[in-house]
Amino acid sequence: MKGLTEKQIQKVEELLSRMTLEEKIGQMNQAATSLVGGFDVPFEELIEMMTDGRISKEEFEKIMSTAEQDFHEDEIRSGMIGSFMVQDPVKANELQKIAVEESRMGIPLIIGLDVIHGFRSVYPIAIAEAGSFDTDLFERTASMAAKESRAAGVAWHFAPMVDVARDARWGRVSEGPGEDPYLGSEFARAKIRGLQGDRSSTENYVAACLKHYVGYGAAESGRDYNTVSMAMHQFYNNYLKPFAAAVDEGAMTVMAAFNDLNGVPCTVNEFLLRKTLKESLGFPGFVVSDANAIRECVVHGIAEDEMDAGIQAALAGMDMDMGTSIYVKNLKAAVEAGKVPVAVIDEAARRILSVKMWLGLFDNPYVSEEAMKRYETLPDSHRALALEAAEKSVVLLKNEGSVLPLKKEARISLVGNLAQSREEIIGAWAMSWQEKDCVPILQGMEETFPNLKYFPCGGPEGDISMNEVIAAGDWGDVIVAVLGELVSMSGEASSKADITIPGRQRELLEMLMHTGKPVVLVLMNGRPLALEWEYNYVPVIVEAWHLGIEMGHAVARVLSGEKNPEGRLSSSFPALTGQCPVYYNHMNTGRPGSKSKFTSRYLDAPLGSLYPFGYGLSYTTYEYSDLKVAETEDSLEVSVKVSNTGERGGRETVQFYMQDVTATLVRPVKELKAFRKVELEAGETKTAAFTLPKKEMGFYDNDGVYRLEDGLFRIYAGGSSKDCLMEEVRIKF
Ligand code: BGC
Repeated sequence: MKGLTEKQIQKVEELLSRMTLEEKIGQMNQAATSLVGGFDVPFEELIEMMTDGRISKEEFEKIMSTAEQDFHEDEIRSGMIGSFMVQDPVKANELQKIAVEESRMGIPLIIGLDVIHGFRSVYPIAIAEAGSFDTDLFERTASMAAKESRAAGVAWHFAPMVDVARDARWGRVSEGPGEDPYLGSEFARAKIRGLQGDRSSTENYVAACLKHYVGYGAAESGRDYNTVSMAMHQFYNNYLKPFAAAVDEGAMTVMAAFNDLNGVPCTVNEFLLRKTLKESLGFPGFVVSDANAIRECVVHGIAEDEMDAGIQAALAGMDMDMGTSIYVKNLKAAVEAGKVPVAVIDEAARRILSVKMWLGLFDNPYVSEEAMKRYETLPDSHRALALEAAEKSVVLLKNEGSVLPLKKEARISLVGNLAQSREEIIGAWAMSWQEKDCVPILQGMEETFPNLKYFPCGGPEGDISMNEVIAAGDWGDVIVAVLGELVSMSGEASSKADITIPGRQRELLEMLMHTGKPVVLVLMNGRPLALEWEYNYVPVIVEAWHLGIEMGHAVARVLSGEKNPEGRLSSSFPALTGQCPVYYNHMNTGRPGSKSKFTSRYLDAPLGSLYPFGYGLSYTTYEYSDLKVAETEDSLEVSVKVSNTGERGGRETVQFYMQDVTATLVRPVKELKAFRKVELEAGETKTAAFTLPKKEMGFYDNDGVYRLEDGLFRIYAGGSSKDCLMEEVRIKF
């Protein structure tokens, strides 16, 4: 494995040579704390219930404090557990001590957790952060999360999630970088660098886990865990791409997805795990199943019983079992019966031990006292980074009449329950944040705008108080309505068949519009929403997602103009839910949608998305000119001029797309090939350029063969996937 010294490789081999079969299988087992007592739900589900909002953090903590917990100490002592999920550093040290000092082989545990968008310093959910198009930012936030979690004993993040996701009904769109494989790949690479890159001390890095391998984002009808069928060219060109990029960047672990791909669950899919990931891509690390997924192969109808599921998974190349104990219970017998070659077990154990070695766990298994205290108070630099990420992720969708930015002295009526919430700014899958660190929108707005009145009035759930609206009478100069989704409405197991603003918030918005005051709609949500009504009637729309602990300050700074918005959409927004999936990089049909009847369109929906991928306004305007495409032997040199034609400085996200106009397979109408962030003063013009190597102009066919085909190509440059200049070029490879 790359990154290990000769001596470390030898140490792994030496350990393997002394381990019993059971001990090797023990390394392949990941466990978590279970609760003992009269509880109906397993611990993993309790965690899920807390993360998806079914129970509050307080309720969760109460259950935890009264429940007796089983940390499986005896199994750790006997070498039957190789990995554990635990959040408390004191407990982590205790369990680690048993593994290191009391088990026969003394092999440390690898402690893993879902650290998806921050640990203590929670920053924006991935779909939002990806919209900053800022790879340096992606890297820095990941590095911050690595340091914070490692100081709590967590050396392995179940992140980044790099599932290409094009169906906004799927709740997990919130967790990943959106619909585009190129942006997804850049995000994936940067996250790997951030999580794993700083190896100057074992306290600075963790092992990343790419998930969910693969195709999970293409779940049929956007329903979580649903079946996935796709042509192999889609698989290679789109869904595999971010995984391949991250493996190339050095990702240490991969988590297999729950779904089946073309009929075979990813958990037991030899083509995916062994052939594609390990053999073709050369992935050196280990693969872990998703939670309980090996057992679920029985329900899938692909395995007869747990033993069968375990055998299939091991043979397919699944190195670690998350949560079922099927490996520890069955694999020894399976080896003895000749159903699983011992080489399969050796390979899995070798991969797992190598990652532990790479993490430095053999030399430094414990969290020091000093490290545990390091983040008791959040360092200013971490808070500043959370703010930077939050600000850069805000997308200005509409600003009719230039209502924004608001003057500091404006009389503002702030409306909506979400504005005062600390928990709802955090987003799905955040586990280690502390309420005291969270800045709700109300706080940020109060600090910025002295003439502010607050009316909760209602939110995504329950009733809204119209009386409060009516009684208010004086609405000041402008209404800022903070509406959207609860955290529990996106993330795992949170698919929706209607993705308009939930509950009675639309009615509230209508009432507010009737006051005759300008309404600024600030959206807080975890997925693209269907905003046709809002697009038609509300003058100002700000997409603020779930931005993390600094959300309040970020929103206030954007609304006041202290920060010129620069975020873009990493996923297209439909007008109506029924258009899902809608994404910019779709294939062409023989009858592209148009005004004519016999074209690819809906009778009752607009053509295409409402807000496309790459879209986002700012408080200034940009103009593009002079797109040039010059051919060299190996590449295309592409450049475009960008001018700031407005009255203030800003950062524009210049996007370069390509279309392969004629090929032996139908190709997308546009594919993102590069992006550049360009800082421009008012009136300034700069040239943005990139080199497109010719070898990157091809595509994979259905057999996974990469093809470079001569012919006509279109090169686009612009400020969104819809709004571009175009040049044609004929290429002979
Ligand atoms: C999710 C994974 C997560 C795992 C462990 C599963 O339900 O699909 O994304 O990493 O649980 O918590």
